[in-house]
Amino acid sequence: MLTSGGDCSGLNAAIRAVVKRAVHGYGAEVVGILDSTEGLLASPPRTMNLGVDLFSGAVLRSGGTMLGTVNKGNPFDYPIPGGGTRDRSAEVVKAIHDLGIDGLIGIGGDGSMRILHGLMEMAEVPFIGIPKTIDNDVPMTEFAIGFHTAVGVVTEAMDRLQPTAASHHRVMIMETMGRQAGHIALSAGIAGGADVILIPEIPYSIGAVATKLRDILLEERRNHALIVCAEAARPMGGDSHFVEQSGSVVYGGIGHRLGQELHEATGAETRVTVLGHVQRGGTPSSFDRALASSFGVHAVDLLATGATGRMVSFWDGGIRDVALDEVVGKAKPVNLNGSRMRTARGLDICMGNDG
Ligand code: F6P
Repeated sequence: MLTSGGDCSGLNAAIRAVVKRAVHGYGAEVVGILDSTEGLLASPPRTMNLGVDLFSGAVLRSGGTMLGTVNKGNPFDYPIPGGGTRDRSAEVVKAIHDLGIDGLIGIGGDGSMRILHGLMEMAEVPFIGIPKTIDNDVPMTEFAIGFHTAVGVVTEAMDRLQPTAASHHRVMIMETMGRQAGHIALSAGIAGGADVILIPEIPYSIGAVATKLRDILLEERRNHALIVCAEAARPMGGDSHFVEQSGSVVYGGIGHRLGQELHEATGAETRVTVLGHVQRGGTPSSFDRALASSFGVHAVDLLATGATGRMVSFWDGGIRDVALDEVVGKAKPVNLNGSRMRTARGLDICMGNDG
């Protein structure tokens, strides 16, 4: 098994579940591949044997991934020094065969799942995916590992911001992660009592947000306000804030831009908090631990029945699995007609496009 893409809380719980189920349920031997496909491109491949004895203590409770991970270096399009890329997929396939792997469980987001599925089809080795990402934008599952914990981190931060906002009569802006989708901002904004939530799916009008703030500060005579914005939120007719670093798109800066624009538009004193990777680390929530454990057990059971090309999924309160072909290359933005959005509107939260 391997972990791939950006880390999040709950990965170790999933690794533990896979090992326990595989060893106790099927007498299987589990090998962990280190640093995702990088471990398979190394010569010799970098792996560790995963026995149940490794999981007797703190692993279930720990953040990060004990196997390491990467979110770049696609073997089909591998960057080479000096620029350009080359296809190294055959090297991965050779490593899989050399290691004698009978089946692979990959914990990753949508992009990782696409790459791993393609590699394992080439290798003709069964593959099962387990969805993870704090962004919760993997299609065909209501929840991916890590999302619940990240929402908890943002909500707790808002609980800490509200009293200082009230004490100083300020507008607090909280910038969250969420590069393609605003699930974290929407859920944490509702849970944390936001007055305004800005998500990438709804380009915002600074005028609408300023009107909302004036209503709160002047009409309602409240002395403070809370705004949550996803890192990829963008103004109407404008772009998200990002820079490119070694081929990766790095979001950030929208919170500070909003802070300045809203100060200029309303005169309110604004302050900005960017939680960044804090949302990805730390102890997983009980929900994420239970989800990761259920996903791990189900993934092993699927492999044991000879299944391949499937992803475990949480749907309608239960664990099921779906074809990876229904997942890869598809998006899962916030459903603008869904219940979370209805809740936000019902709470009179400004979503950036009204007023
Ligand atoms: O996709 C998950 C995510 O945490 C995004 O929300 C964020 O934009 C990105 O990863 C950050 O990635 P990196 O760890 O490369 O900065």
